[in-house]
Order: sequence, then C-alpha cells, then structure tokens
Amino acid sequence: MSNSVTVKVPATTANLGPGFDCIGAALTLYNEFKFTRLDPPQPPLAKGGHGGDPPRVPGGLRITVTGIEADRVITDESNLAYQSFLKLYQHIGQTPPAVEIQINLGVPLARGLGSSATAIVGGLVGANLLAGSPLPQNEVMGLAIALEGHPDNVVPALVGGCRLAATNATDWEICDIPWHGDIIPVVAIPDFELSTAEARRVLPTEYSRADAIFNTAHLGLLVRGLETGKRDWLQAALQDKIHQPYRQALIKGYDAVKDAALASGAYGMVISGAGPTLLALADGASATAVATAMGDAWKEQGVKPEVLTLQIDSQGAKVSI
Ligand code: HSE
Repeated sequence: MSNSVTVKVPATTANLGPGFDCIGAALTLYNEFKFTRLDPPQPPLAKGGHGGDPPRVPGGLRITVTGIEADRVITDESNLAYQSFLKLYQHIGQTPPAVEIQINLGVPLARGLGSSATAIVGGLVGANLLAGSPLPQNEVMGLAIALEGHPDNVVPALVGGCRLAATNATDWEICDIPWHGDIIPVVAIPDFELSTAEARRVLPTEYSRADAIFNTAHLGLLVRGLETGKRDWLQAALQDKIHQPYRQALIKGYDAVKDAALASGAYGMVISGAGPTLLALADGASATAVATAMGDAWKEQGVKPEVLTLQIDSQGAKVSI
C-alpha cells in the first residue's frame, strides 16, 4: 500500500448544447491532487493556502494550494477534495488516515469547466489508492456522481473522452462518444464567475413537449455530428431549449461572442457547463481565428477573457505513485 499518490484530473465541458446534465467531454487542462499519508498525525504547516494557518483537524489534515486562484481555495476540512476523500473511506467502512493534500490548480474556479468535479474525482481516486484500491472504477464513479448530483462532469473527468451517461434503474450506463479529430474545442473563459447553483436556479422545472422533442432530436444529431465531423449536423445540433435560453442573460456579451465565433467559421458555440465560459467547436483550419474573434468580441464588451484552444483528453484521471 502506497503512502503517497498524485491524481491529475482533467477539466471538463458539460452539456455541449442539447445534452444538459448527461453529456460532457474531458479537456487538456488539469488540476493535480497529491495525497500523502501522515503517520503518525502531524501538526499543520506554518502557512496555509489562504487565510493563514490551516486549522488543526482531529485525525490530522493539512492542505496547501498552488496554481491559478490558489488563494481562493478553502484549506480546512470543508475542502471538497478532502470531503470526497472522507466519503470514500466512509463508504468502505475504514477510518481515514491523517493526510496532507497538495493541490496544484490549472482549472479556473466557478467558470463552467468542472473544477468541482476535479476535486471530487481527485479526492475519491486518491483515497481509493491510499486504501489499497478496494473499489473498482465503476463504484468510484457511482460515488462521484452521487457527490456531484449529475454525471456530465465527473464521468469524463474520471475516465476521459466524451461520455454520455444514462440511468438504468439504480445504475448508470456510460457510453463513449467518438469525437472526430477535426473538431477543436475553443474555450473562452471570462474574468467573472457564475455559480452553478445560480445558473441552475434560473431553469424552469417543467418543459413543453415541443422543447423535449427538440432536445431529444438535437442530442441524437450531436452524437452523430461529433462522430462524423459533418458541418451541417454540428451546426444544427449545438442548439438547445433546456438550459441555454435561460442562462444566456447571465453571461455578459454572450450574443456578441457567439456572433464572432460563427462569423469566423465555428460550427457553433455553447455555454460550457453552467457557464460563464463559452465553448466553440471549430475545425482545425478555423480554430485560431475563432479563438481570436471570441477574445476580441468579449474585450469589446469590457470583459477580460482567456481563450484556449484545447484538445479532448482521452485518459481521464491519471495516477502516479
Ligand atoms: N450540467 C450541469 C449544469 C453542469 O449545466 O448545471 C454544471 O455542473
């Protein structure tokens, strides 16, 4: 049994337009979580990630955070990676060890790129490994989905690729969605945040039959469009009636950035997860122009974006011991 394990977890983009709460893809942008068993329990380090010294926790915990927005991460026992770590030990009926968690962040917080999912997957996978791998991956996945409340970020964060998740009685069917090599994800990340809770609060609780049919058809088309890279299918498929119409107003400059992405050759543009990051899909020939156009359009609206041309991560959570 190892005393130290590092879990590198990819960012994710969920929904992809019509696939609200059921489809998502892993991106080549990462958070890293290193778990080191502290045996016997140690006092906290002199300096914490933010707000001074991390508090002493019964049993022993210390958390340090580096990377982007590191000073905003909670370093006490309510830290999401640690809560997920505890959850796994609770599930297997073992006492969790005292632990040091070193977090290195590359995924911005509260921007619709699955930062919470990286913490949940990192905590569960790290705990499972320190415990000697008692749980198979599908059980870790079930815990991750239960903690997050929906599967579309945690599933690709854990296993990589683009994944569709559907409930099957008490279990989940996870389906690999082939992603054509000439579909490039371009993410435009603004300098403002949008909490997932707020972005979910604005959604209706009921939808018309017409909207349900619209999204059913478009999600089917999206799956085939992603597989084939067929432009006409992708252009139509990225439309949605379940979440985007209600969330667009929360994202300053949404229309301008979308117009710019489409005018520069993108297949389409959607809200990444719950937003406010905007995701364009483009072919290799136009991806750079799309990225520049999205960035310029947002700057004209007074928003400072970071625009990244990424790839699909095919591996998911990667472990090194
Ligand atoms: N499917 C989720 C949503 C993703 O759009 O609210 C964010 O966690």
